[in-house]
Amino acid sequence: MALTPPKHFLSLSDIPASELRAILDEARRRKKARAGLAKGMPDIDAPFLGECLAMIFEKNSTRTRFSFDMAMRQLGGQTIVAGVGDMQLGRGETVEDTAKVLSRLVDVIMIRAKSHYDVVTLARNATVPIINGLTNYNHPCQIMADLQTLEERGKNLSDMTLTWVGDGNNVSVSFLHAAAKFGYHLRMSTPTSYGLSGQVLSAAEMAGAKVSLIADPVDACRDTDVVITDTFVSMGDADAGRRLRDLMPWQVTDRLMEAAKPDALFLHCLPAHRGEEVSASVIDGPQSVVFDEAENRLHTQKAILTWCLDA
Ligand code: CP
Ligand code: NVA
Repeated sequence: MALTPPKHFLSLSDIPASELRAILDEARRRKKARAGLAKGMPDIDAPFLGECLAMIFEKNSTRTRFSFDMAMRQLGGQTIVAGVGDMQLGRGETVEDTAKVLSRLVDVIMIRAKSHYDVVTLARNATVPIINGLTNYNHPCQIMADLQTLEERGKNLSDMTLTWVGDGNNVSVSFLHAAAKFGYHLRMSTPTSYGLSGQVLSAAEMAGAKVSLIADPVDACRDTDVVITDTFVSMGDADAGRRLRDLMPWQVTDRLMEAAKPDALFLHCLPAHRGEEVSASVIDGPQSVVFDEAENRLHTQKAILTWCLDA
C-alpha cells in the first residue's frame, strides 16, 4: 500500500495558489473564531489534541519560535523546541538520520536553518510534514502573515503594487514567489549587487510573477500600495559595515512614504534596526503595520499547521 507523502511547507513556489488562498482564509477564520479567548486557551475545536510539533533552530528567533509554540498550543497540541547545538545534528549526525528519527517521534517539524538545502534534505527523508521557518533562501511563513495583514487593512492582493526596498534577501524571495500566486505587482529597488539572482527572477516570471526592477527608491515607491524593507544585515551575512554603507541610500524614510499612495502601508518582518533600513518616523508612524504582521504570524502558523496535517 502506497503511503500518502507528507505535505511540506518549504517554499510558496511549490504550493498551488488555491491552497495558499485557503490557508489565508483559514487563518482569518481561526483568528475571528477565538476572539476574546485568553491567549493560552485552546481553540474550541482543538484539532491537534495528541499531536506534537518539534521545532529546530539553527539561528536566533523571537517571532517564529513563540508564534509556532502558541499556535500549536491553541490547536490543542504540544511542542518540543531544540537548538541545533543541543542536538546530535550539531555534532555531525546526518540530516537524513535526524529526519528518520524525528519522524518516528513527532507529528510535524518546523526548522529554521542556515542552509535551504538542509531543509530540503530533511523533507526528502521525513515521513512527517516539514515547515520552513526561514533559511538563507526564503521565509515563506512570514509572507503568509504579511498578506493576511494587508487583506485585513483592505488591500486586494490581486490588484496592488508592493515595493521592496533595500537588500534582495530571503524575505524578498518569498514576496516574489507569492507574486506569482496572488497576482500583485512587485517592484524591487536594490543596489545592483544586492538584487535577486537572474535565475530566481526568471523562474518567478515564468511562474507568472509580475516584477519590475527600479533602481531609484523614490521612483520605485511612487504611487505604490505597500512599502517593504528588511534588515540590511541578515543572520549569517558577512561584512556588516560594507552592507550598511552600500544600502544606506535605500533606507525607507518619510520621503519614500510620501512618494507612495496616501494610504500606503509599511511592512517589516522584524527585527528592525531604526536608523538603518528604516527611519523611526516610518516604522513607528501611522502607516506602519509591523506589529499586526508579528501577531498574524500566530494565525497563519495555525493555518499552515492544519494544512500540513489535513486537519
Ligand atoms: N520575522 C521573524 O521571522 O522573526 P524572528 O527571527 O524573531 O523569528
Ligand atoms: N532577513 C532576515 C530576516 C529575519 C527574520 C534574516 O535572515 O536575518
